[in-house]
Amino acid sequence: MSEPFKVALVCLGNICRSPTAHVILEDRLERAGLSANVEVASAGTGGWHRGEPMDPRSAVALRDARYDPSRHRARTFTADWFAEHDLLLAMDASNHADMVALAPTVAQQDQVRMFREFDPELTNGGADGTDLEVPDPWHGGPDGFLQVLAMIERTTDGLVAALPDLIAARHR
Ligand code: 4NP
Repeated sequence: MSEPFKVALVCLGNICRSPTAHVILEDRLERAGLSANVEVASAGTGGWHRGEPMDPRSAVALRDARYDPSRHRARTFTADWFAEHDLLLAMDASNHADMVALAPTVAQQDQVRMFREFDPELTNGGADGTDLEVPDPWHGGPDGFLQVLAMIERTTDGLVAALPDLIAARHR
């Protein structure tokens, strides 16, 4: 069998958004029988929380929805991640810009895309870019964490549906 397709999910701290997406994507891959074909990792563009578990507010939102947040430990995104992964998905525009700035070559900048490009509920197709962010819930209340969870669940379903095409197009 060919090498697994490697997806990295990236936010700022790697304690709220990208680890939530990491847990949900692994759950959906397992349900779709794709765990052996796709490998998932997550990281933050900032390193302040490196080695820490998930933010307790994200962990509660995940547990309440019957996911297991317990295995996460925060990692930091570096230029090496370009060679180690096929697809690098940014949670917001500043994550995207920070990742592109680390690309070892101009061609590798194309590995960076916005996670919400795969959101089936995008109202404007992402044409103006404004709908493409998963908002940072860090400074808000518990509602923000629930909204982020729902947004990530439906976007992950869209991503899993797009995976066969993404895998077929890799290294093209
Ligand atoms: P995340 O949220 O990027 O979704 O993990 C944040 C976590 C921590 C900080 C900012 C955002 N922080 O400033 O420490």
